Amino acid sequence: MKGILLAGGTGSRLYPMTKTVSKQLLPVYDKPMVYYPLSTLLSLGISEILIITTPRDREAFTSLLGDGSQLGCSFSYAVQPKPKGLAEAFLIGADFIGNDSVALILGDNLFYGSAIQKQSPSKADFSGGLIFGTPVQNPKRYGIVELDPDGEVKSIEEKPNHPKSNLAIPGLYFFDHTVVEMATQVKPSARGELEITDIHNTYWKADKLGVTILEQGTAWLDTGTVQSLSKAHAFVEAIQSRQGVLVGSPELAAYQQGFINLSQLKTLAKSYKDAEYGNYLKQWINEQ
Ligand code: G1P
Repeated sequence: MKGILLAGGTGSRLYPMTKTVSKQLLPVYDKPMVYYPLSTLLSLGISEILIITTPRDREAFTSLLGDGSQLGCSFSYAVQPKPKGLAEAFLIGADFIGNDSVALILGDNLFYGSAIQKQSPSKADFSGGLIFGTPVQNPKRYGIVELDPDGEVKSIEEKPNHPKSNLAIPGLYFFDHTVVEMATQVKPSARGELEITDIHNTYWKADKLGVTILEQGTAWLDTGTVQSLSKAHAFVEAIQSRQGVLVGSPELAAYQQGFINLSQLKTLAKSYKDAEYGNYLKQWINEQ
C-alpha cells in the first residue's frame, strides 16, 4: 500500500500564523505538525509516500523531510496549485498510485494510540474503501457518517448544518486504486472543492465502503483552528512528559517497522544534538 500525505491548503483559519508558513509545518509542542501524520503512515508499514504541498511550501517540506532514504523510505513530492479539495489528491497522485491501494492522511490530523494499526486494513489484498468514525462534540465542522442500528451507513455528509449523527470521519482514508477513476467523476461542491465525502459516497453507493469506529484508546486531534492546535500542544506535552513516550516520531516509527536498524536510529538521534526531541529519542534507545 502507498501513502499520500496531503499538506496543502491556505490554513487561513490560523492567520496570521500561516501567512508565510505552511500550517503543517507549525510546531505541535516539540516537532512540526507533519511529523505526526507521517509517523502514522510509517507505523502502518507504509514506506512509499507522496507528499502534496502548496507550490509556496514545497521547498520547505523537501528540506525538512528529504527523499525519505534516511528513514529507509521513499518520499516524493507534488504540488496542489490551488486548494481545490482533498479528493484532488487522487488526481495529482494518479501516476503515483498506479495499480496499488492507497492511504490518504491529512497533514493536520494527529492520531495517537496503537489500535489504529490493528484497525487499518492489512496491505495485501485490500479492495474497496475504508473510513473511520469517531464521536465529536462539534459535528458541523467535519465529514459526518450516520449509521443505522446494524452499523450500516445511512448517510455521509460534509460539514452538515443539521448533522444526522455526531460521528466525524477523521482524515485517514484507505482506498483501492479505483479511487483515481472515482475522483475524476467528482464535481466541485458549492464551496468549489472536490470533497472527500463525495468519494466516500461513491464507494458507499457501489457497496464497497467499510466504516470502522475508532477504538476508545485512540485519540484523534485535528489542528485546523487555534483552539484545537493549542489543545494538541497540551496533549502531546502531557503524554510525553508524564509517560516519557515520544509521540509522532517518524524515526521511531521507521525503526519499529524495521525500515531502519538501531544504529541508523542512533545516528538520527544524534543529529538532533541537544534538542529535547533528540533527548527523548536517545532516552528511548538507552531503554532498549
Ligand atoms: C476535512 C474533510 C472532512 C474531515 C476533516 C478531518 O475537513 O473535508 O470530511 O472530517 O477534514 O479533519 P477540513 O477540516 O479540512 O475542512
